[in-house]
Amino acid sequence: MSDSKKSPSRAPRTGAPVPPKWRKDVERVLITQDQLARRIRTLSREIEKDFTGRETVVISLLNGTVMFLADLIRHLSLPLRLDFMGVSSYGAGTESGELVYTKELRLDVRGRDVLLVDDILDTGRTLSRVIPKLRKLKPRRIKTCVLLNKQARRVEKIQADYVGFEIPDFFVVGYGLDYAERYRNLPFVGVLKPELYQSGS
Ligand code: PRP
Repeated sequence: MSDSKKSPSRAPRTGAPVPPKWRKDVERVLITQDQLARRIRTLSREIEKDFTGRETVVISLLNGTVMFLADLIRHLSLPLRLDFMGVSSYGAGTESGELVYTKELRLDVRGRDVLLVDDILDTGRTLSRVIPKLRKLKPRRIKTCVLLNKQARRVEKIQADYVGFEIPDFFVVGYGLDYAERYRNLPFVGVLKPELYQSGS
């Protein structure tokens, strides 16, 4: 949660065409598969440097982290154990900040180094509630890692320690991120066409 000294990539202008099967829904590709793969490799090296020497408990927040987590941990040459917390904003599209826990941790994190992984840091409501909950379990330290940081929408005073990409305030889907539980399987991060979420379909 401390200020990051790392320099996350700004989501590059890709110019990559949206694959035909997604053109109906996705306006443009924000981050390509190749860009994701390259950045996640460098991100894992940054993390390794800070975590070397101690067994780490990686805690991943369901469901959006599914692809990011799988790619990140296969590059982490660290002794680690993996656990999941199910966390969801209360109801679709709500900004109430209420969280519903759909799965609790199973591993004991007392005295452990924890790497908390999420797909996107947006308003900051999720991490700013999950971190104090984890702190009560007395880990030695908690570092946070997010694939995407959308600074423009932040309402809580929180930064991640490791950030894959800084992104503008677009509604992004794919690579684990959803809209109404759809689009998680896109292999890239794309910008959803506004008419899709504006019409509530
Ligand atoms: C999304 C995302 C983050 C959170 C970020 O989760 O996965 O956990 O929102 O937003 P915030 O910074 O504004 O809190 P969501 O509740 O949509 O669940 P999901 O991971 O199952 O998509």
